Parts: sequence; structure tokens; C-alpha cells
Amino acid sequence: MLNITINGRQIKAKEGATVLQAARDHNIYIPTLCANDAVAPYGACRLCLVEIKTAKGRERLVTSCIYLVEEGLAVQTETERIGKIRKMLLELLLARCPDSEEIISLAKKAGVEKTRFVEQEGNNKCILCANCARTCDEVVGVAAISLAKRGVDRELTTPFNEDFSEACIGCGSCSFSCPTGAITMEDVKGTRTIKWPHNSIKFKMRKCPVCGQYWAPEKQIEYVAKTSGTPLSDYDKCPDCRD
Ligand code: SF4
Ligand code: FES
Repeated sequence: MLNITINGRQIKAKEGATVLQAARDHNIYIPTLCANDAVAPYGACRLCLVEIKTAKGRERLVTSCIYLVEEGLAVQTETERIGKIRKMLLELLLARCPDSEEIISLAKKAGVEKTRFVEQEGNNKCILCANCARTCDEVVGVAAISLAKRGVDRELTTPFNEDFSEACIGCGSCSFSCPTGAITMEDVKGTRTIKWPHNSIKFKMRKCPVCGQYWAPEKQIEYVAKTSGTPLSDYDKCPDCRD
């Protein structure tokens, strides 16, 4: 264990932990939007900024979801400087995604009621954090979506910018990992619809012959059977009705 301080409080932090993880382990709040334990740290939203001073006396601002703890580290999570930067970031996020409930709520918590920047039109909720694409790649192993282009043109898209990614299995992991509700998933009468910011796709679902529930997209079941090396017939029934 390493000895660090957060806001002047002495704490023990696990070696290899990020500052954010150490803070959370001790119930110290740091606002986050894109932090996601399921994928490698990325640091897209910058909301988790903190001020640090190393044992050697080096001071700077770092993103706590990426920066690893080290012996003697002193962390401040709520200085005036951080407060100002966070408010600015939230105003920018609000301008980009004025309809995202998550961002509105985080902004309110930081005392930001409105943005002084021009709000984007068109119900955009994507902050380009890449959680969806990284989950699809790193966790599911499919890589059906990715971020493309640079600067103001950066966007979430499919390989080769096609309307539909043949690789997508309809698992919905992108929707679960999206911090702003920019990707939605709905199952209605045997059809799963996933809506991304740029398009939407429908998937036929498999019905359980025992309980009658539609429980997963056919394509996802085929993918799981293939990658796990198990026979497709093992997936006739839903998980609840299997022996
Ligand atoms: S759709 Fe959601 S998860 Fe994907 S890049 Fe946009 S905000 Fe991030
Ligand atoms: S939560 Fe750390 S950069 Fe988004």
C-alpha cells in the first residue's frame, strides 16, 4: 500500500490504482463522465481533473482517472482553480449536448445552470469519449464502431463509414457503456433496435421455447457460440430456462 493524501487526509492507496480509484475507495467524490472500469483508462472528458504535488515537489493538474498513485502524492480535488476549469468544461459539454440529462445533472451539481457558448442543435448527446467503441473492441472483441476524423469533424462511425457494420452483433454493450445516453437500445416484440448518433440497426431476437421470452439477438448468440467453441444448440433456451 502507498501513503498519499487527498484534500489533506492521509490515506492508504493500492499500488497500481488510479487517483480516482483511491479516492472512490475512501468515499471521496471526484466528478466523472467518461471513466469506465471495463475498458482501459482514456481520459476524454477531463472532468475528473485534480491538482497533485509529488513527493519531489512537482505540482500540476492531472486527470485522476488515468494518473496512478505514487508514494507521498498529495492530491487536491476541490481547489478554486479546479472549480473554474470544471465549470468551463461543463459549459462546453452543455453547449455540445444540451439535451443530455447526465450532463445537465453534473453541471447543476457544479453550480452551472446554463452555458454561455452556442448550443448545438439536433439532440446531440455524444461527447466523443469513445467508451462505446472501446467496449465493442476491448470487451466484446467485435470493433463494429469507431471514432473517425479529427478536430471539429471527429465523429462516431462504422468501419469505412458504411450505414451498417456487418460486424455488429447487436449485444448493446455500446449502449450500456455510453455515459450520456447517446446510444439507446430497445427490445420490442422480438426485434432489438440500437440507435447510434449516426444511424440505427434492427436485430431479430431468439425466442425461448420454454418461457416465451425473446432473450438475445440471433447474431449475438451465433457469435457467443462461435467464440466460445460451444454448439449452437446449447443456446436454444434462455439462460433462466436451461438445465
Ligand atoms: S456514443 Fe456515447 S459512448 Fe460513444 S463516443 Fe458518444 S458519448 Fe461516448
Ligand atoms: S472521467 Fe476522467 S477524463 Fe473523463
